[in-house]
Amino acid sequence: MARQRPRAPRSAAREAVERAAARAAPRAAAPPGSASDFGPPEAFSAPVATSPLPAAPRARLSLPWPLPALLVWASAWAVFISLARAGWGVALALLAGAALGVVGSVLGHSWWRRFMLALGFPLSLLASGLVSLPAWLWLLPLGFVLLVYPINAWRDAPIFPTPLAALDGLPGVIALAPGARVLDAGCGLGAGLRALRRAWPEAELQGLEWSWPLRWACALRCPWARVRRADIWRASWADYQVVYLFQRPESMARALAKAQAEMAPGSWLVSLEFEVAGQPCHSRLQAPDGRPVWVYAL
Ligand SMILES: C[S@@+](CC[C@H](N)C(=O)[O-])C[C@H]1O[C@@H](n2cnc3c(N)ncnc32)[C@H](O)[C@@H]1O
Repeated sequence: MARQRPRAPRSAAREAVERAAARAAPRAAAPPGSASDFGPPEAFSAPVATSPLPAAPRARLSLPWPLPALLVWASAWAVFISLARAGWGVALALLAGAALGVVGSVLGHSWWRRFMLALGFPLSLLASGLVSLPAWLWLLPLGFVLLVYPINAWRDAPIFPTPLAALDGLPGVIALAPGARVLDAGCGLGAGLRALRRAWPEAELQGLEWSWPLRWACALRCPWARVRRADIWRASWADYQVVYLFQRPESMARALAKAQAEMAPGSWLVSLEFEVAGQPCHSRLQAPDGRPVWVYAL
């Protein structure tokens, strides 16, 4: 059982948060086995603000399927043709096109779509019969995919970003001292770190990410954070006052058990969208798109 110690003062902000949460109670976290297991639905990338802050205007940043695929494949082909014409050689041009496909695959909202986005260009090139290359070269695009989405991370969650304003309500329930250490466990491309920075600009932010390319990209996007390549389950959480996660429903019981075993009393576990089934939480915030932010006191 989660130890529950209401530590944060019951502020007006918190009451407003809880009232907002109560109003939104029907929109609970997606149950295990739902579409959310493999990532949120299409509306996932809509920007949100956390109640009780004023809601940001909603704008869909995501393109309806199959537009992302057409866009990514056409861009990969354009890069391939331009570079081949510029004298780069077919193999290098293929690699550049395939790399673009892998980068563009983050637009996919499920594993199948990601693979289609990443592998569409090399497979269509192969099918076109335009080029003849050694067989091993065709494995390189697959290698890129595995670098960006390492199998170790599949058990937990693929890369889906935290909306920028999704964590704005956290300071209303967790009072952090300046310099407090906050970890984004599985920081992806750094969207969660950016949201955490917006919530607690004076915190010391750190990120752990298993994928090397994502870890590098995150460090570039978040130069103010300490970003390391590590397995979130093997790394110690003992030094953090807050650990933030955006993983999978199935990971949450393990995350709370790890947090309770390693983190100091008075620290916090925060999860976007997915709760620890059957465990009482300290607070449940709500983002305007309806997704909950679960706060567990340790
Ligand atoms: C849903 S994304 C969330 C990214 C980021 N936290 C955000 O909210 O924008 C989950 C991330 O966790 C990473 N991940 C999954 N399992 C991991 C593990 N065991 N160790 C480190 N990172 C992991 C994935 O590679 C992916 O980038």
